[in-house]
Amino acid sequence: MKLHLTRRYAFAAAHRLHSAQLSEEENRRLYGKCANPYGHGHNYHVEVTLSGPVDAATGMIANLAELDAFVGREVLDAFDHKNLNEEVPAFRSAVPTTENLCVEIFRRLCTFPAAHLERVRIEETGLNSFEYAGE
Ligand code: NI
Repeated sequence: MKLHLTRRYAFAAAHRLHSAQLSEEENRRLYGKCANPYGHGHNYHVEVTLSGPVDAATGMIANLAELDAFVGREVLDAFDHKNLNEEVPAFRSAVPTTENLCVEIFRRLCTFPAAHLERVRIEETGLNSFEYAGE
């Protein structure tokens, strides 16, 4: 028996979309105002989906308090109220788009010991969301 559980988190962070592989002109054309050198912010909403069997003794897939502590330590402490380009090492080389944010958050959460990480979904705004389910 396998069930899924999804837990929702939020953090606020600043970023700048700018690729070192593109010229300044190409960056401006591609990213528009998101390439502003001083950055801009988003209130990100992250959904973390886990799967696993229901434990016979607890009736749960995973202890939500344990999941909250893990996500807090691995993601929220590292990302909330941070400048993603400057303060998250992965984004020194990768552009901090929400696509790459999904991959980085998945990488940080896939070692959660109590259940299998199925998917990370991030809403960057009310209009955009992205999902990553691993390779
Ligand atoms: Ni943005």
